Amino acid sequence: MDDKNRVYLFDTTLRDGEQSPGVSLNEEEKLEIALQLARLGVDIIEAGFPVSSPGDFKAVKRIANVVKGSVIAGLCRANRIDIDRTWEALKGAESPRIHTFLATSPIHLKYKLHKSRDEVLVQAVEAVKYAKRYCSDVEFSAEDASRSDPDYLALVVEKVIEAGATTVNLPDTVGYGVPEEFGTFIKTIMNKVSNVDKAVISVHCHDDLGMAVANSLAGILNGARQVECAVNGIGERAGNASLEEIIMALYTRQAFYNKEININYGEIYRTSRLVSTLTGMSVQPNKAIIGKNAFLHESGIHQDGVLKERSTYEIMSPELIGLSQSNLVLGKHSGRHAFKDHMEELGYVLAEDELDKAFLGFKEIADKKKQVTNDDLEALVKDRVWAIPERFSLTYLHVSSGTAVIPTATVKLEIDNMTFEAAATGDGPVDAGCKAVDKITDIYGNMLEYKLNAIGAGKDALGEVLSRINIGGSVYNGRGLSTDIIEASVKSYINAINKYYYEKHRDTKSNGEH
Ligand code: KIV
Ligand code: ZN
Repeated sequence: MDDKNRVYLFDTTLRDGEQSPGVSLNEEEKLEIALQLARLGVDIIEAGFPVSSPGDFKAVKRIANVVKGSVIAGLCRANRIDIDRTWEALKGAESPRIHTFLATSPIHLKYKLHKSRDEVLVQAVEAVKYAKRYCSDVEFSAEDASRSDPDYLALVVEKVIEAGATTVNLPDTVGYGVPEEFGTFIKTIMNKVSNVDKAVISVHCHDDLGMAVANSLAGILNGARQVECAVNGIGERAGNASLEEIIMALYTRQAFYNKEININYGEIYRTSRLVSTLTGMSVQPNKAIIGKNAFLHESGIHQDGVLKERSTYEIMSPELIGLSQSNLVLGKHSGRHAFKDHMEELGYVLAEDELDKAFLGFKEIADKKKQVTNDDLEALVKDRVWAIPERFSLTYLHVSSGTAVIPTATVKLEIDNMTFEAAATGDGPVDAGCKAVDKITDIYGNMLEYKLNAIGAGKDALGEVLSRINIGGSVYNGRGLSTDIIEASVKSYINAINKYYYEKHRDTKSNGEH
C-alpha cells in the first residue's frame, strides 16, 4: 500500500448502506452483495457491525470466511467487548480489518459520550492498541471529525497512528461539509500530524447537503488515500458518497485527479442493479452513472450529435460500466448450451443445479414472451437462483376484479409437497390475494411499500414487484416476477413471508455462532 497516487476504495454498502431507513438484508443477500463487490474489485468491504445484532455477526462471519480478494472489515465501538466480538466474526478472513470508531467533536463529547477530551483520547488509543493484538490492519474513525477542533483531532490522529492504526478515517458524519472547506480540513490535519505518512488517511462523507461525492473528491485532492462510499449512494439519512460516481469521476477526469484505482469497471452496472434489487431501494432515473436516463439522449440536436460522433454529448461509454447496448437475446428455441454461454457472457457463471433452475425459469418466460432479454435473465437469476429456500410456493392464483365486483382471490400454496387452498376478498385484487395467502400461512404481513417496475420494454415485459412487508415488527423485502402483475404482487408478498419464515426457523436452530 505505498503508491501515493493509489486511492483505495472502501465500500460500506453492507454497513452504513444497510443503515438506510427501511433496508434490511438477510445473510444470503449480504453474501451475494459481498461476492459481487469482490468481483467489482473494491479494496475493502465493510461487511457489517457484528455487535449490533446476532444476524449481523453471522453475516460478517460468513462473508469473512467465504469472500476472497478484498479486505473484509467489521465496525465496532472503541471498547474491548465490541472489539473481541468483531474479531470473532472477522478472524476467518483472508485479510481482516478491525474498524473501530469514537467521536471527537465537542457536540458528541458533551451530549453523547459525556467524556472529556483526555478521556476520549485515552479510550481511542487503548482501543487501537487492543485491536492491534488481534489484527495488523486496524482502522480508527474519528466520528464527526469535520465538526471537531482541528488541533484536538490532529492530536487524536497522531496518537492512534502511534498506537498502530494503519488507516485513520475522518468522516463528515452529518454531511455538513462543503468541498473547499472539507478539502482544506483534510490538508490541515495532514499538515498537523507529524507521523501522518505512517497511515492511510481516509474520508467518509454523508450526503445531507448533496455534496458527499464532491467532498470526498476534495479530500482525495488534499491527501486522502482511502475513500469510503456505498453502491448507489445508500446509507444513513441522505446516504453516503456514491461508489460509482467516485469511480467514474476518478476515471473520466484522470488527467485532473491523477489518481489510480483498481476496479473492474464492467461490473459497476451489475453491482448497482443487484444492490437496488436486494435492498428494495430503487435508483432515481436521473442518477449519475447508473440511472436509467444516464446514457439516454432525448433532444434531437443531442441525438444527431451522438450519431455523428459520440463524444459530442457523451463523456463516458455505457459499455465501460457493463451496460450492454445490445439487449437482444434468446427465444423459446434456444437450447441449454446457448443459454449457458449467454449467461456466462453476462457474468453469471452458474453451477449445474443453479443452471437447471435458471434454465427452467427461462423456458417458462420464453413460453410467455417472444424474446427474453438480458434484463429478464438477470431478474430471473435473482428470483430463482439466489432465492432463499421456499417454505410456501404459489401454485395457483385466480382473481376476479373490476368496477362492479368485489375483488376476490383464490390461492393455492404448496407446503411440504401438500397443497393448501384459500379464498378471500379485499380492497383490490392484490389485497385479496395477500389475504388469501395469510389464511393459509397464518402469518399476517402489513404492506408498507409497493413498487411495480417493468423489466425491459414492450407490452409483454416482465413485471417486477418490490414490496416491503412488516411481519411481527420486522421489515422484509419481497420480490416477485411475472408477466402478470397481480401474480408478481402476490409472489412478492409470499417472498417476504418466506424470508420471515426462513429467518425465524433458522434462528431457532442456531445460536448465532455458525
Ligand atoms: O458516518 C460516520 O461517522 C460513520 C463512522 C462510524 C465511520 O459511519
Ligand atoms: Zn457514516
